[in-house]
Amino acid sequence: MNSLKEKIQAYIDDIQATSIENFQDKAANIEMFRVKYLGKKGIISELFEQFKAVPNEEKKDLGKALNLLKAAATEKIEEFKAFVEEHQVQDRTDDLTMPTDFSELGSRHVLSVVMNEIIDIFSRIGFTVADGPEIEDDYHVFTALNFALDHPARDMQDTFFVEKDPEVNKPTDVLLRTHTSGVQVRVMERQAPPIRVIMPGRVFRNEAISARAHCIFHQVEGLYVDKKVSFADLKQTLLYFAKEMFGEQTQVRLRPSYFPFTEPSAEMDISCNICGGKGCNICKGTGWLEILGCGMVDPNVLKACGIDPNEYTGFAFGMGVERMAMLKYQIRDLRLYFENDLRFLKQFEAIV
Ligand code: DAH
Repeated sequence: MNSLKEKIQAYIDDIQATSIENFQDKAANIEMFRVKYLGKKGIISELFEQFKAVPNEEKKDLGKALNLLKAAATEKIEEFKAFVEEHQVQDRTDDLTMPTDFSELGSRHVLSVVMNEIIDIFSRIGFTVADGPEIEDDYHVFTALNFALDHPARDMQDTFFVEKDPEVNKPTDVLLRTHTSGVQVRVMERQAPPIRVIMPGRVFRNEAISARAHCIFHQVEGLYVDKKVSFADLKQTLLYFAKEMFGEQTQVRLRPSYFPFTEPSAEMDISCNICGGKGCNICKGTGWLEILGCGMVDPNVLKACGIDPNEYTGFAFGMGVERMAMLKYQIRDLRLYFENDLRFLKQFEAIV
């Protein structure tokens, strides 16, 4: 009868040596293991059958061994199940054919939406899109645009210079563009009039970050050069834009201003789209909101770009995309655009 006890011990050793890691189909193998040991016709119930025939004096000892075997099998199954549960999540990601969880589908950033809308509006009246480098040189950002040598925008306080001359520790002329107006120069250098382009892009200024200022923002620049382009063309084009962007009821007004690269220069306001011009806290009671700078291209700029100012005239304008989006969707803080807080981004999911 010693052999029955040995048999039981061999089964216990066998159970303890079994590892789930070697199972291919884990769930099916666990079930097979259970049936093999604990099933109605399994090893353990068979052993209990044999146990009945065992002489009484051996029963105590063998009974103990049998119960140990049963406990070992039960325990092993628990261990298998715990393993499967723990690895379930990982197995799911390992299986690349499993369906994806679509609950966090991304959407376009509000700045991209507004940028695309501006491009759309101008492309409907024949403007094409042009691009230029974000890392620019002094010539394209300032000199060719008629900035005087001592203009404050050339100062380190406003402009990020990319390199310094190690000899004199002075900035070289490589810089991050402070406005998209430099792309005008690049376009006119390589293309003869008629020119009708808009130039969207990122710009950089050395500003402390606050609700109303940021060191990175986006602009859309516009340029129209041809024979006999007049200020009336400028005004009509921008009125069309304002109505498309902010609604048919929108009115515009132009105030005299100054930019080195346009003469005459103006700033354009739209009637406040929140209060309809009656005066509210968004328009600070004036009924008007400033949206862009514009003007007739200065003859000096045309000349610098190889275009004869006696033959051609042109207008240009530049607007801030963050500002457009703020006015359109009543966003109060510039920092929100760059923080990528999902609670902010999700509010614009529906506008594509
Ligand atoms: N570059 C100007 C800025 O960053 C905006 C601007 C004003 C662009 C007048 C123009 C313009 O083309 O004609 O503030």
